[in-house]
Amino acid sequence: MRLRRWCHAMNDNSEGEVSHPLAIEPVTSDSRAAFVDWCLAHGVEHDDSYTQPPDLALFPTPGEIVALALLDRQVVGAAALMVDGFADAGLGRFRILHATRAEAYGPLLEWTLARTPAAVRHVYCFLPEDAAAAQALAPLGFSPTRYAVVLERAAGPVDAPSPPPGVEIRPASADDALAWTAVINEAFADAPGHYPMTEQRAREHLADERVVASFLAWRGEEPIGVVAVWRDEQAGEDAAEIATLGVVPLDQGRGIGRALLRQALAAAEDAGLPRCSLSTSTVNRPALGLYTSEGFAVVDTRVCWGRDVDGRAAPQRPR
Ligand SMILES: CC(C)(COP(=O)(O)OP(=O)(O)OC[C@H]1O[C@@H](n2cnc3c(N)ncnc32)[C@H](O)[C@@H]1OP(=O)(O)O)[C@@H](O)C(=O)NCCC(=O)NCCS
Repeated sequence: MRLRRWCHAMNDNSEGEVSHPLAIEPVTSDSRAAFVDWCLAHGVEHDDSYTQPPDLALFPTPGEIVALALLDRQVVGAAALMVDGFADAGLGRFRILHATRAEAYGPLLEWTLARTPAAVRHVYCFLPEDAAAAQALAPLGFSPTRYAVVLERAAGPVDAPSPPPGVEIRPASADDALAWTAVINEAFADAPGHYPMTEQRAREHLADERVVASFLAWRGEEPIGVVAVWRDEQAGEDAAEIATLGVVPLDQGRGIGRALLRQALAAAEDAGLPRCSLSTSTVNRPALGLYTSEGFAVVDTRVCWGRDVDGRAAPQRPR
């Protein structure tokens, strides 16, 4: 209903010329290139976690709901809601929800939510703190639900990893997918936005060509910690990103996270990537304490904007 009302409004043309109303169209093989171009041009104004060329090469993920907003047959916005994996936790994450015309946000959102599987109860995206999109999302029921910081570490010496006695850190490969899955699901069980890792996803993740190095911490045959370093071409040819660092709860606070982080930093440096970034929640005190004590400094803040599919805004969490 509302979509039609929007379209009607857009059809009014005071000059009396023929105009093409705002239209929301699914992305097809014909319009795939236009969608990708939109993400490359605007992902960075929005949330560039999934809009860089290697991510777009894998687009769409299974079940992804994707649309373009067209005005006078020109693309003025795009929406893509990823549900694969996320839906297992009742979530949908926008790869992009961005328009250059504010009036396109409502129809794009409405079109997307009308096609969202029932399992998805909450949708979200991350925006820079001063993103213009926030002004368009707030009236649509989105509110800030949590905050994340991006931290960077300049090239510099890395102290030797020193895991506690009885713990060994070894390189991980796709053959370790089961162990990787078990550690991730335990370590991140309470992390907001976490959805269950599966062996298949872990295998793909560990075999991803952007992964420079990945390590598992073992106590005997028991996997207890993980870390992965990714190439971060967006940030420069010498830049790495630590995308995953986790220790199972019973072994936290024993120096294993620090040892894994140092191992990852050393591997990045060996691969010619001495600059490193990562992100974490502003309320994750253990992670923030670890990162700042290993030379990382906060360079940016990201705001998670979310709303329930049924329209209720999510409760705000502390910064
Ligand atoms: C963050 C995490 C990886 C740290 O690993 P860990 O093995 O527990 O950390 P370590 O024992 O090596 O401690 C390293 C530093 O972290 C900080 N830290 C660890 N636990 C802490 C706590 N409970 N409160 C505050 N700071 C803490 C301290 O600065 C500590 O250094 P110190 O012992 O010299 O004071 C671990 O807590 C974890 O897996 N958390 C859940 C998953 C997660 O949030 N991962 C990070 C995503 S960005």
